[in-house]
Amino acid sequence: MSSFNTLDDLGDITGKVALVRVDLNLPMQEGRASDVTRVEAVKPTILELADRGAKVLLLAHFGRPKGARHSTMSTSMVQGDVERVLDREIMFIPEVMGPVVEQSIGILRDGDIGLLDNVRFWPGEEANDAEFAKGIAAHGDFYVNDAFSAAHRAHASTEGLAHVLPAYAGRAMEKELKALDAALGNPQTPVAAVVGGAKVSTKLDVLENLVGKVQHLIIGGGMANTFLAARGVDVGKSLCEHDLTATANAIMDKADHAGCTVHLPYDVTVAKEFAANPPSVRTCNVHEVAGDEMILDVGPLAVEALGDVLKTCRTLVWNGPMGAFEIEPFDNATVSLARTAAALTQDGSLISVAGGGDTVAALNHAGVAEDFTYISTAGGAFLEWMEGKALPGVAALTA
Ligand code: 3PG
Repeated sequence: MSSFNTLDDLGDITGKVALVRVDLNLPMQEGRASDVTRVEAVKPTILELADRGAKVLLLAHFGRPKGARHSTMSTSMVQGDVERVLDREIMFIPEVMGPVVEQSIGILRDGDIGLLDNVRFWPGEEANDAEFAKGIAAHGDFYVNDAFSAAHRAHASTEGLAHVLPAYAGRAMEKELKALDAALGNPQTPVAAVVGGAKVSTKLDVLENLVGKVQHLIIGGGMANTFLAARGVDVGKSLCEHDLTATANAIMDKADHAGCTVHLPYDVTVAKEFAANPPSVRTCNVHEVAGDEMILDVGPLAVEALGDVLKTCRTLVWNGPMGAFEIEPFDNATVSLARTAAALTQDGSLISVAGGGDTVAALNHAGVAEDFTYISTAGGAFLEWMEGKALPGVAALTA
């Protein structure tokens, strides 16, 4: 892993202004964040900087306002949530540069925290405009990036600022980069990857990258149906991207050449309707799916065999559920395999890293999120990392 500066490399910061990029893109329900995991993740960085005497200015995006002000996308919407998690009062500053920011810094005492408005209200952010970055940078003494989940964006606040101010990875970023390095950068082998979710089309680059890096690729979720169809299995009415069967075959060929074993389910849970505990639910061999049935989960025999595969591995990287886990009983495979992974992690035989989209929800549903080695709060950034792409926000820190 390329090296990067952390908060340990900062000297005396008393009275200095820290510009700290955080991800406050929180899911909202009735005017309040329904999940504050991302705030909890950046809390150590914010409090450390404040307690070391810096004036901390939080810089974040919230939604996709596309370069114009929208009152519903102001970061003031999440001020209360941030205050609750930090257990400190913070000052909302309705700009990101200029006299209002300057005056606010004058009011803040050492150790106080300010929250700048949504940086995406200005077109210079997404354009990664150098002048815009310099305008923000003029208010700070140094820049801290603690927003891994926005690091796949080459924006002024995620990338540009790192070139105009001394740049440091925050504690959450540091933890994330170390965990990801242990999972795919420099892992203990054998490595298994679980890739699930509805569609192959959204994860082609992930699969292409993984087959060259891991020894076992476990495919679940709706996307497994496309691979089964590619192998000549009649998947009935299942979600399946039939136009991608040739691509699926090419990925399996690439895996063969790279010495990566691709695991597809050989038994499945099927039903005629997509509803909780439908009367038609049954488990069968993949070759016995009827024309009017849908595959909605990996079957119990395959899950047991996959658990045995995990027992032979030292590292696991997990993205996406194994079945339609939101609806019972199609959560069985996800829950059961996640529990096996969690138990192996707790025994010390497996390093387990998970992230992206539905994955955190699926692992929370299985009640094991705490037992994995590391769970990323990132969605798109985690996927791009799994695709093997350099993330601009990380590259700028390690340059
Ligand atoms: C996220 O919520 O995944 C990040 O904050 C990135 O948001 P974006 O997809 O709008 O860039």
